[in-house]
Amino acid sequence: MNEIRKEALYALLKKLVEAVGPSGFEDSVRDVVIDELKNYGDSLWIDSLGNVIAVKKGSKGAARLMIAAHMDEIGLIISYIDERGFLRFQPIGGVSERTLLGQRVVVRTLNGNLVKGVIGSKPPHIMRPEEAKQVPEGKDLYIDVGVSSRAEAEKLGVTIGSIAVFERDLTVLGNSDIIVGKALDDRVGVAAMIEAFKAIDFSDVDVYAVATVQEEVGLKGARVAAYSITPHVALALDVTVASDVAGVSEQDWITQLGKGPAIKVADGRAASGLIAHPAVRDKLIEIAKQYGVPYQLEVLHGGTTDASIIALNKEGVPAATISVPTRYIHSPTEVANLNDIVMASKLAMLFATKITSEWALTIIRRNLK
Ligand code: CO
Ligand code: ZN
Repeated sequence: MNEIRKEALYALLKKLVEAVGPSGFEDSVRDVVIDELKNYGDSLWIDSLGNVIAVKKGSKGAARLMIAAHMDEIGLIISYIDERGFLRFQPIGGVSERTLLGQRVVVRTLNGNLVKGVIGSKPPHIMRPEEAKQVPEGKDLYIDVGVSSRAEAEKLGVTIGSIAVFERDLTVLGNSDIIVGKALDDRVGVAAMIEAFKAIDFSDVDVYAVATVQEEVGLKGARVAAYSITPHVALALDVTVASDVAGVSEQDWITQLGKGPAIKVADGRAASGLIAHPAVRDKLIEIAKQYGVPYQLEVLHGGTTDASIIALNKEGVPAATISVPTRYIHSPTEVANLNDIVMASKLAMLFATKITSEWALTIIRRNLK
């Protein structure tokens, strides 16, 4: 059994986080993923939607485990360029206006040019006092790429359909285990999955590591990947809310940074997302206890992961989620603890190596007679 190394994980995470890849435009992230996985496993391909699927054959190969982590991040898509060269946009995924004003962004044109910009609005100095207090709506915001006409914007390659994401590098805060950057949702899951996949030296089941597309806009990549793989058991690796911050009472924390990955019990509004399969959830807990992986249990009100759509594939798939506690999700300054990511990766790796095909086949169908 190989170790998951913190330094290697951080280096990979830096490449993944700094790549530009909102939903449907994951190309740059996909390049990093393929580069990482090409020397591991038995096969590797890109499917019709752009999911990257890597397979390690198991010794029995009677059952298939699918591990999913999404490559896409939230972002913006240019919907109009005015005559003075200001770009109007629509959100891609769950973008909150509160996080946009004053941000630096990088615009990527349809032919791959990168152009720096800032998100602006009319200055508060010329607003009425009540107006100045409000969060500006998307329609009152624009991207300023420093040009003075539509023609000049177009000369840079910027057109309707160009996309933009926050411009942020990955770095550490006062404690060097605490990382900050954009798109930790879900590049931390992708990094954890890649390092887990590399570290698997033996498994009974076939392991399918899937870097999915378009999770933030409706779990689309995971849906088609699950259909083609037909897994017998599945895990998603994603972030979850850690609101263990100033001004929030303990009962609303959901999870805490640095207390280990969370094993999800349920998510979505009124548990409409995933209710983790009890056998898979309990196996994760059992393995975590046996190998000394710290963990916390999670019930998240609102939000879900790829696991909830994989669970509904064909006749149904026992599925669970390993989550990385993350503060300020869907902002340019998402914060997580590297040790939690290492342990999430280790737990996924242990799960893949410790379960048997027999176990997976028993939980997907229990013959009574
Ligand atoms: Co998200
Ligand atoms: Zn996510």
